[in-house]
Amino acid sequence: MDITVLTSGKKDLFDRYLREYLEAEGTSSGIFEAFAYSLKAGGKRIRPVLTMLACECLGGKAEDTLPAGLAIEMIHTFSLIHDDLPALDNDDLRRGRPTCHAMFGEATAILAGDALIFQALSVIASAGYPAQTKLDILGFMAEVCGVKGLVQGEYRDVTAEGKEISMDEVRDIYRRKTARLFELCMFTGARVAGGAQEQIDPLVGFGTYLGLAFQAIDDILDVTSSREVLGKTTGKDLAQDKATIVKALGLQESRRWARDMTEKAVSLLPAADGARSKDLKRLALGMLERVA
Ligand code: IPE
Ligand code: IPE
Ligand code: MG
Ligand code: MG
Ligand code: MG
Repeated sequence: MDITVLTSGKKDLFDRYLREYLEAEGTSSGIFEAFAYSLKAGGKRIRPVLTMLACECLGGKAEDTLPAGLAIEMIHTFSLIHDDLPALDNDDLRRGRPTCHAMFGEATAILAGDALIFQALSVIASAGYPAQTKLDILGFMAEVCGVKGLVQGEYRDVTAEGKEISMDEVRDIYRRKTARLFELCMFTGARVAGGAQEQIDPLVGFGTYLGLAFQAIDDILDVTSSREVLGKTTGKDLAQDKATIVKALGLQESRRWARDMTEKAVSLLPAADGARSKDLKRLALGMLERVA
């Protein structure tokens, strides 16, 4: 299953919403240009699509998640801009185009990333959800991104360069830098659908395992794919001696681990209503085969 086929309708819906948001917000300032450049640069839009699917899985409407999905994509885009900076991964290509700092300079890229975080908060705060839903999403977002979450994961990723690492450490880095944002997608979609806690928890668990598998595949593709196909530099993890699963286990075991995590994810989907969760299952299995 090609995930781009599976996600295309929802991806288009998201891209249209983003375009309208940027047109409404648009200013001609340099910082806005950098902000919009990175948001518009493409990308698979996996996170907003996942947020829609989580909502549908509990009987909600995909469209209702659009503001929340936009906020999550903003957080993701901030993390990519900062991840690419010379002080972190030092990459010049992202989504098939020059990275934000390569295009606009480091100072503007840092500030565009900062702006994305606060715009994300603003998008949630002004969305039409009930006040408690907004508070819950904002609270979860702050937790998964903060000093124990994505930022901690990125910190451990850069400080682990060149060191011996165990698979436990790799897993911990993956959980924080990648999987927690997937948890946020699942939580948010389920919360917008009005799901009960006992429905939300397993979906968040699905996000954990899917995120772990997703980062493992990203690190496998860094070794096996090409710059042209991925739209970002390859072979960098080895060159920078990054803490990846490929370094800890080798390619073959890494593939097996990604499959195990995907199976664990799928096992947490609600069995009682297979019809509603089938797209989440197909997406999870499709991600294992992704080439970009
Ligand atoms: C890249 O995420 C960063 C990782 C967590 C591996 P994606 O592969 O989802 O990037 P885009 O949004 O499609 O460019
Ligand atoms: C990215 O990990 C995780 C985050 C940006 C939080 P990578 O550094 O492997 O992602 P790419 O390969 O640059 O997209
Ligand atoms: Mg990185
Ligand atoms: Mg990187
Ligand atoms: Mg990578």
